[in-house]
Amino acid sequence: MDSEVYKFDFKVYDSIDELNSEDASLLREARKVTEFAYVPYSNFRVGAFAKLVNGEKVSGTNQENASYPAGICAERTLLSVASTLFPNVGIETMAISYNNLNGESNHPISPCGICRQSLVEFQQRTGKPMRVILSGLQGKVQLIENAADFLPFSFGANDMK
Ligand code: THU
Repeated sequence: MDSEVYKFDFKVYDSIDELNSEDASLLREARKVTEFAYVPYSNFRVGAFAKLVNGEKVSGTNQENASYPAGICAERTLLSVASTLFPNVGIETMAISYNNLNGESNHPISPCGICRQSLVEFQQRTGKPMRVILSGLQGKVQLIENAADFLPFSFGANDMK
């Protein structure tokens, strides 16, 4: 019997002011685009903003639907935009923020399970590990260097070979 450990490091900053200027600018944009979310059902606006490996910038927001499962998260909206406008180009860094219209927006939230699966496949197919910055409209910021860390034991295309 072997006992194994899975662990990863991530950084925690007290506020956006501690980030380098490029990361701070991505987070500022993610906070801004929350305003374009369509959230009549949850009142929970999520914004994602990314810099691609080729230097281009793309954004995504959550878009809900009266048929609830038809709604899509900000992160997967962004992945669809990125791979449609710039096929096969990796994402260097994605910042994710939110504005909770029913409460506070002062701590980082992390991507849902479905988005984690999509983030992992996106970085596998583009061959570029994605840095992820998480923060609300204010407060602490988390920085994860590789989106695959969100999803240990992930299932992927290689498992079907
Ligand atoms: N949502 C996102 O867009 N991203 C996440 O990482 C978590 C949840 C959206 C889905 C739904 O529109 C609303 O937030 C509440 O779950």
